[in-house]
Amino acid sequence: MRVTVEVPATAANLGPGFDAFGLALDHCNEMTADTDRPPSLTWEGEGADELPTDGTDMVSETIRSVAASMGLEAPAVALHGRNRIPLARGLGSSSAAVVAGVAIASRLLDLGIDRDPVSMLAIAAGIEGHPDNAAPAIHGGMTIATGEGDVHQVAVHEGVHPLVLVPDVTLPTAAARAALPDTVPFADAVFNATHAALVVEALARDPALLPTALADRLHEGVRLAMVPDVADVADELRRLGVALCVSGAGPTLLAFQLEGGPDVQATARAVAPTWRVWPLRVRPHGFTVRVTE
Ligand code: HSE
Repeated sequence: MRVTVEVPATAANLGPGFDAFGLALDHCNEMTADTDRPPSLTWEGEGADELPTDGTDMVSETIRSVAASMGLEAPAVALHGRNRIPLARGLGSSSAAVVAGVAIASRLLDLGIDRDPVSMLAIAAGIEGHPDNAAPAIHGGMTIATGEGDVHQVAVHEGVHPLVLVPDVTLPTAAARAALPDTVPFADAVFNATHAALVVEALARDPALLPTALADRLHEGVRLAMVPDVADVADELRRLGVALCVSGAGPTLLAFQLEGGPDVQATARAVAPTWRVWPLRVRPHGFTVRVTE
C-alpha cells in the first residue's frame, strides 16, 4: 500500500490573532509512505540536506507516537518527503510534518483519524503544540482556533492575495516564544482584541482593511528585534504602503496584494533582493490523502 499525504504551508497569528488565527496557503509538502518497499527515509526539496534520515524526524516520530498510543507497532515503510515548505521560517513546516505523520499512521493502521478533523486536530496539536498552524493545515482557509479544541473556519474573500516573503535567516519557534513577556499592558491586549476582530472582517469581506487590521502589539516587535535585517525590510515595506505581518513566529513576512496598492512582488524584490518572494493562493481545503493499493 502506498499512502501520499499533501499538507499545506500555514501562516499563523495573522498579526493580532496570536495563537488563534491561521491561513492555509497553496504551497504543499508531500509525504509518501510505501509498505511494499524496504524501509527507508529520503527527502528532497526544502531542508533535504539537514533533515535526519535515522527516524528522528517529526513525521517518523509522529507515526510511532500515534501507533504507540493505540498499543500498535509502527508499520515498516519506505518514507519519502518532497518538501516545499522552508524549515524554521514561520510557515508551519512542523505542523505539516505532524499532520502528515498522523494521516499516514491513520491510513496504514486503519484508525479512521484522518477522516475526522476534530480528532486530527486534537492529536496533531497535542504533538506539535500549535493549533493555530494545525487547524488551517487540517481544515484549510482561514481558521480561528480557540486553544480549547474549537475551530471556526472563515470563508476568505476572493480579493485576498497573499505573498510570502522568505528571508535567508531562520528563527526557531522555541526561541521566538521564549523571548515573549509573561504579561502585557492592558491597553495592548485591548488593541489586539480590536484589531483581531478587524482581521476577520478584512479577510472575510473587506481586504482594504488589512493595512490597519494587521497591526499587533503582543509579539511581532519582540520577534522582529531578534532579526534586525527582517525588521528593516518590514519597516520599509510598510512605509511603502505594503500590508503585512510576521508569518507565525517569523522570520517570514506575510504580505497581501491589495487592489490599488503598490505591486508587492516588485516592491519586495527591490527592498529585499536576496529573499524568496512567492505569490500564493489561499488554499480552501486542508491536507489530502491519496492511497494506492
Ligand atoms: N502562534 C505560534 C507563535 C505559532 O507565534 O509562537 C508558531 O508557529
